[in-house]
Amino acid sequence: MSDTVTITNEDGVAVIVLDNPPVNALGHALRAPLFAALEAAKADEAVQGIVIACAGRTFVAGADISEFGKPPLEPSLPDLIALLESIEKPTVAAIHGTALGGGLELALGCHYRVADRAAMIGLPEVNLGLIPGAGGTVRLPRLVGPEAALGIIVSGKPVGMEKAQALGAVDAVADGDLRAAAMAFLRAKIAEDGPHRHIRARDEKLAVDLDAFEAAVADATKKARGLTAPLTAAEAVRNAITMAFDDALARERELFLERRDSLESAAQRHLFFATREATKVPGIARDTQARPIEKAAVIGAGTMGAGIAMALANGGIEVRLLELNAEALERGLGQIDKTYAGSVKRGSIDAAEKEARLARISGTTDYAALSDCDIAIEAVFEDMGVKHKVFGALDKVMKPGAILASNTSYLDLDEIAASTGRPQDVVGLHFFSPAHVMRLLEIVRGDHTAPEVLASALALARRIGKVPVVVGVCNGFVGNRMLAARREENESLLLSGATPEQVDRVFADFGWPMGPFAMVDLAGLDISWKHRQSLGLTAPVADALCEAGHFGQKAGRGFYLYEDGSRTPKPDPFVAELIERKADELGIERRTVGAEEITERTLYPMINEGARIVEEGIAARASDVDVVWVNGYGFPVAKGGPMFWAEHFGIGRIVDRLEHWYGETGKEVFKPAPLLRQLALTGGGFADLA
Ligand code: COA
Repeated sequence: MSDTVTITNEDGVAVIVLDNPPVNALGHALRAPLFAALEAAKADEAVQGIVIACAGRTFVAGADISEFGKPPLEPSLPDLIALLESIEKPTVAAIHGTALGGGLELALGCHYRVADRAAMIGLPEVNLGLIPGAGGTVRLPRLVGPEAALGIIVSGKPVGMEKAQALGAVDAVADGDLRAAAMAFLRAKIAEDGPHRHIRARDEKLAVDLDAFEAAVADATKKARGLTAPLTAAEAVRNAITMAFDDALARERELFLERRDSLESAAQRHLFFATREATKVPGIARDTQARPIEKAAVIGAGTMGAGIAMALANGGIEVRLLELNAEALERGLGQIDKTYAGSVKRGSIDAAEKEARLARISGTTDYAALSDCDIAIEAVFEDMGVKHKVFGALDKVMKPGAILASNTSYLDLDEIAASTGRPQDVVGLHFFSPAHVMRLLEIVRGDHTAPEVLASALALARRIGKVPVVVGVCNGFVGNRMLAARREENESLLLSGATPEQVDRVFADFGWPMGPFAMVDLAGLDISWKHRQSLGLTAPVADALCEAGHFGQKAGRGFYLYEDGSRTPKPDPFVAELIERKADELGIERRTVGAEEITERTLYPMINEGARIVEEGIAARASDVDVVWVNGYGFPVAKGGPMFWAEHFGIGRIVDRLEHWYGETGKEVFKPAPLLRQLALTGGGFADLA
């Protein structure tokens, strides 16, 4: 007996219950007593069978992720499962909640699995840059067939009981009392008197056509996006077919350890905890009551407003979409219809789901129709005067206690809040375009934003499947402010001697989905041109390109040439010549610019600005900055976010190079933030700051 594992003998059946809240992660505190309990049950002649079950909200949800990267403690998970598999009396896992990773591997060490109908099972290790390391890739293919196992392991997506049962992953599904059902199942098996075959002995399903399997591998891994773990996972499943059980198991462990020690996995584990940490907001107690949100108003039916309306409707919230005139409203609603039709065509939703979502969205041109909404989210033109008008109108019609949110991407939220008589109810909800797709939600906390309003915004984010990060008020908040820190350098690099292709190549090699110039071409050069004009800023090359009609992909030319409607960027001699001319006019002598210089002048200013953001408390912690960049701006997951990467690479090295470029250019973006200097001196990391 221990705090975490109890064993009771119920008429010849040993019932072992694990209890390690919150999710029964299989840390050492659980493994050691479980090992002892299994040894005892194995040796006890009065025990005819064993049930392994869990207390609390879930069956074992995995190995303890926080133990990876620390010295290993015996018994390991493979030791535990080997012991389980050496037991000949029938063993049953009683699964409720989520049996994930090491949890499912534990269940695969049992002869049988009985699960609650609402349970989910899966091997999500790839999401942490890992592969299953305790037999998952070797046993699951034997249980459900290699192709089905491949799908589950490479995607990392859990499956529900309907599919699990159809695949043979579970032996029985219980609707009522799971423990009783598992017990009854086991008693029937004891009465049958065997034979009880462990999964290791079941290789009937392994006789597959290898060519078909390779085709399935190619299909399953095509979305790996530069990540190694999905490819390694596929390799491990292949080994399950081509190698003997024990050899495949040993090889799986080697591959797992290789992955565990990789930067990719450290980065993804960092992001796992960072994403959860980001929901813990300083000054907001965990039990702060959120206000219920069932009906939402969205002001503005442009691209952003329509996207937000869909994001809400997809999460089951009723939406009233407001536009000033019927024509603009029709356009917005039409856009929504078209987007959902696209999803049906791609097969991501069916026609009935489309109708259900559409039915949640209604249009109006009358502010009075918003009076019963629990929240209003404004997504109108980025102009303080316009925002004041909207918030003034909302203040008049919205019911007391309603939340007034702005989707502004850089304006001062406190100034917006000041146009209402209820600044405590005002919050920023900065969605990213397309809002129904992008996962990031910057929640902007104003000077007066009430704790319940922040708690409500966090709850809303969770409900509609967004990744929230609470940020403070400043120009551009976390994401756009850091983006601005590198923007000017993109252009400067061209004038110094780089080409758009060269800069974009460095970004692609780092793992970004696309470089800054391909990105601007996609978004449209005219958009950033207008933005610069509104701020009184210039960019000699980009401005000249706009004057020449180079508005990007939609115009067939931008920083690149797009021939005959193609989306493939081609170097454009006109652009090369224009860059040279502009450099000449500015008296800049162009020279060879290397990849390192490109990284130093684009990525380092971002990191520097990130450090200032942390210093100023705009982000509560450096890891929040990472969550923003990975979920909203395509920062490569495998590198964990700009701050994580900086620490891995060496803050001292970065500070040295920032000093260098500050000396060369005198630009503020290169002036090392005091926080970075301090960490460079002490050799500490961002986590030590708390
Ligand atoms: N190891 C260590 N801690 C874990 C964990 C694990 N495998 N799984 C969850 N936790 C922690 C979370 O960090 C969180 O801690 P916090 O409250 O201090 O922030 C807490 O358990 C609850 O997790 P959370 O994700 O907030 O709860 P949820 O109910 O939304 O989701 C799960 C539960 C199990 C679905 C989800 O936590 C999950 O997917 N976990 C990882 C599963 C996994 O990858 N297993 C394989 C590991 S190799």
